[in-house]
Amino acid sequence: MECSGQLTPRLLMAVGTAVIGSLQFGYNTGVINAPQNIIQGFYNETWSSRFSEPIPQSTLTALWSLSVAIFSVGGMFGSFSVSLFVNRFGRKNSMLMANVLAFIAAAFMGFSKLAASYEMLIIGRFIVGLYSGLSTGFVPIYVEEISPTSIRGALGTLHQLGVVIGILMAQIFGMDSLMGNAALWPLLLAFTVLPALLQCVLLPLCPESPRYLLINCKEESKARSILVMLRGTDEVSEDMQEMKEESQQMMREKKVTIPELFRSPLYRQPIFVAIMLQLSQQLSGINAVSLSLRLTVSRWALPTAIL
Ligand SMILES: *[C@@H]1O[C@H](CO)[C@@H](O)[C@H](O)[C@H]1NC(C)=O
Repeated sequence: MECSGQLTPRLLMAVGTAVIGSLQFGYNTGVINAPQNIIQGFYNETWSSRFSEPIPQSTLTALWSLSVAIFSVGGMFGSFSVSLFVNRFGRKNSMLMANVLAFIAAAFMGFSKLAASYEMLIIGRFIVGLYSGLSTGFVPIYVEEISPTSIRGALGTLHQLGVVIGILMAQIFGMDSLMGNAALWPLLLAFTVLPALLQCVLLPLCPESPRYLLINCKEESKARSILVMLRGTDEVSEDMQEMKEESQQMMREKKVTIPELFRSPLYRQPIFVAIMLQLSQQLSGINAVSLSLRLTVSRWALPTAIL
């Protein structure tokens, strides 16, 4: 069929809305770097007014490192929790719910200066890390599941693109003349609330993943009507068939545990390919290119049960 693989407005809108989550991840990764000296000055001032002595250099370094690194700790917990959400609440609702974290984090970071509390900034960084970890799971799952097979890889790269654009935005907004100065840095950190709001407005207009509806909820007619809407054509039987086959296959296959994944010869080649791709991605820095490969390979090689 010619019409499989159409980039319809509804599909584009759903993908675009989801990718706001990637943007958030990138933004919060990059945002802390530009105003480093200014926020360190705030730590110093806060410390002085509390303890009536300037902050020791080593304490300042430790507090600052914590503020930067705790984002990754939150990210780790977040990405481990992805499967708890996506299968219980659905892909769309999970993304919607995660925004609560972005709001809380923005409040903690944005009001830290007013409250003269670097603890609040650190807590905010942890929470926004949690949110980012969840997003890096939610977004690719959703985008992949609503996209037609033929352009799935291409749309999958938009997650990575969103991350990079987010980092760029953070660098630009963090310039001295914009928000990277002593007066406005709380706004720079709290800015994350705006994309979160935008996503909260747009997500209710986006469909739930048809794959989730069919496989997890057994709602075949709903899944079909969403597919018809996303593809812009009534010819969705191929997509439906693909998902049904996958669903049956998942029921036949027993769940694979992580140790089994490494022990069983069946998975040796796929896991080797996946690890090599991850390594080459991390070591080469060509993130945007290898992500599409990774999505393709994960689709083809690894059992969906563990993804
Ligand atoms: C903290 O601020 C004081 C007073 O402005 C300054 O003399 C000191 O060098 C600062 N300490 C650090 C570690 O930057």
